[in-house]
Amino acid sequence: MPNLDIHASKEYTMMVEPGIMDRLGELVLRVANPKKVCLVSDTNVSELFAEKATRSLQKEGFDVNVLILAPGEGTKSMSSLNRILEFLAEHEYTRSDILVALGGGVIGDLTGFAAATYLRGIPFIQVPTTLLAAVDASIGGKTAINLKAGKNLAGAFWQPSLVLFDVDTVLELPEEQFKDGISEIIKSAVIGDAKLFDYLQTVENPKIIDFTMECVMGAVKVKRDLVAKDERDTGMRKLLNFGHTMGHAIELVSDYKISHGRAVAIGMLACAKAADKMGWSNRDCAIPIWQVIDKYGIDAKCPFDPHQLAAAALNDKKRSGDNISIVIPLEIGMGAIMDIPVHELEEFFRAGLE
Ligand code: GLY
Repeated sequence: MPNLDIHASKEYTMMVEPGIMDRLGELVLRVANPKKVCLVSDTNVSELFAEKATRSLQKEGFDVNVLILAPGEGTKSMSSLNRILEFLAEHEYTRSDILVALGGGVIGDLTGFAAATYLRGIPFIQVPTTLLAAVDASIGGKTAINLKAGKNLAGAFWQPSLVLFDVDTVLELPEEQFKDGISEIIKSAVIGDAKLFDYLQTVENPKIIDFTMECVMGAVKVKRDLVAKDERDTGMRKLLNFGHTMGHAIELVSDYKISHGRAVAIGMLACAKAADKMGWSNRDCAIPIWQVIDKYGIDAKCPFDPHQLAAAALNDKKRSGDNISIVIPLEIGMGAIMDIPVHELEEFFRAGLE
């Protein structure tokens, strides 16, 4: 079954396989030799998978503690972080024990940040249970919580020791959440893998498991290569933000009622259209991007105006001084990072949304 090795400040493997959650305990032993394992999850995910994961860990003789938090973005907070840290201290976790994040991006980011800070750093394992987390948040070592002023404003780069994606978990995913993952996969294809884009464009009625494996392997390879070159996100890694400058603004202005995947789809399409109009792309990428977004039933109509979105985006942490970084497609499979003056952002958004 396919494995992907990630080369960053820590070398680790992502294993992508149907049913792999049953082997969680045995696979922990490949990367650590803990006495205790703390499984962190949320109420939605734990109902489906916590028992299976716990059973597998207990089979190997680990002392397992389970901490279940509320689902949703609100959990990515200082108080949840504090709860995990106090829980670990109460149960006398040491540096040779381990955390397991079982869930989507919220649980992964939060648990990773707790692992980065408890005793100045203990190992953790990512077990993503959404397609979105499997192709993005679970690899690359960005861990964070949100502050009042915005998303992911406190965090650390802290790589997991192992990432396990049980492909069978997508069978439990609501359709809208599956589409959120597809949107990030389209993003990876546009910035770095023309073959993956071609697969997304041409595949007809695939078996869901085969389709997921193909897409996850392709998208994670794009991210893996960027993380290997730029783990700390000072250069090429920013390509992964394609569609995200406008996307984050849409999430914010909609009060998070528009999902991340849909917001990114709108952002990608607008960016491709604007870049083509400005003559920055080698060829028009907006049409093929729109075709793929439409094929997977992602609603890419933008309900907000460019002025509102530019104002929200200018609070984004990707802004540096008088410029803001945006990602554009040069052609399908090749992205580029452009720094534009902040006062031109509204015009850029307008060009993309007209
Ligand atoms: N989610 C973007 C990154 O990991 O850099």
